[in-house]
Amino acid sequence: MADNSKDTTHFGFQTVAKDEKAGKVADVFHSVAAKYDLMNDLMSMGIHRIWKRFTIDCSGVRRGQRVLDLAGGTGDLTAKFSRLVGETGEVVLADINSSMLKMGREKLRNLGIAGNVSYVQANAEALPFPDNYFDCITISFGLRNVTDKDKALASMFRVLKPGGRLLVLEFSKPLLEPLSKVYDAYSFHILPRIGQLVANDAESYRYLAESIRMHPDQETLKQMMEAVGFENSTYYNLTGGIVALHRGYKF
Ligand SMILES: C[S@@+](CC[C@H](N)C(=O)[O-])C[C@H]1O[C@@H](n2cnc3c(N)ncnc32)[C@H](O)[C@@H]1O
Repeated sequence: MADNSKDTTHFGFQTVAKDEKAGKVADVFHSVAAKYDLMNDLMSMGIHRIWKRFTIDCSGVRRGQRVLDLAGGTGDLTAKFSRLVGETGEVVLADINSSMLKMGREKLRNLGIAGNVSYVQANAEALPFPDNYFDCITISFGLRNVTDKDKALASMFRVLKPGGRLLVLEFSKPLLEPLSKVYDAYSFHILPRIGQLVANDAESYRYLAESIRMHPDQETLKQMMEAVGFENSTYYNLTGGIVALHRGYKF
């Protein structure tokens, strides 16, 4: 039998051709963009704000630095980095999806954030920036949506300056079995219902739950980062491992 596994990947629990996945992910985020922030607060009961705060605290970003908020969507991290780097610094919010970028740009403009932020439509797998360019890159709840994660991590490594660091905030594997069971029940039964009620879109939130289960666990992601060159890689489990923050350095 022919081995097609090199040409296929996961879209949630479905196996799809690699060149189909980006289009399907695009459909999800075009569909959820307008309600994205509201749904984030509802689904996580506001806890995503604490995970993002922790990410900022671990970033070590200072005044004058250049930061890439990759798969930055509606710009929660960009807003915080913009204040941290100040007028002499720069934040690039990059995302593959025009609807998410539009929501991000509008939100940040309404918050009075401008000047040191620019917006770039880009695929994490092929970043349109020079080598050794950023002091810090974050990718928050973005990596699991990317078709070729190794290629994306290598692209991030290329555009980081020596001494720079990557932070990957992403859903991960709960540490305790009882927590896993509750979490599964919530993700597969309650989440799609909230999606249906609030955003009239159960399907996208079913994808969210499935994509989380298909994402590499804590140790696997750490090894993937090390395989493309990141050093001193560590991770922090948040909310019992439901989410993990990975950090690695380019030396
Ligand atoms: C769940 S949202 C996260 C948004 C934001 N970072 C946050 O934490 O709230 C995932 C984002 O990843 C973006 N994305 C998906 N695939 C991407 C890719 N290959 N390259 C860049 N961005 C991508 C989506 O368009 C979407 O805006």
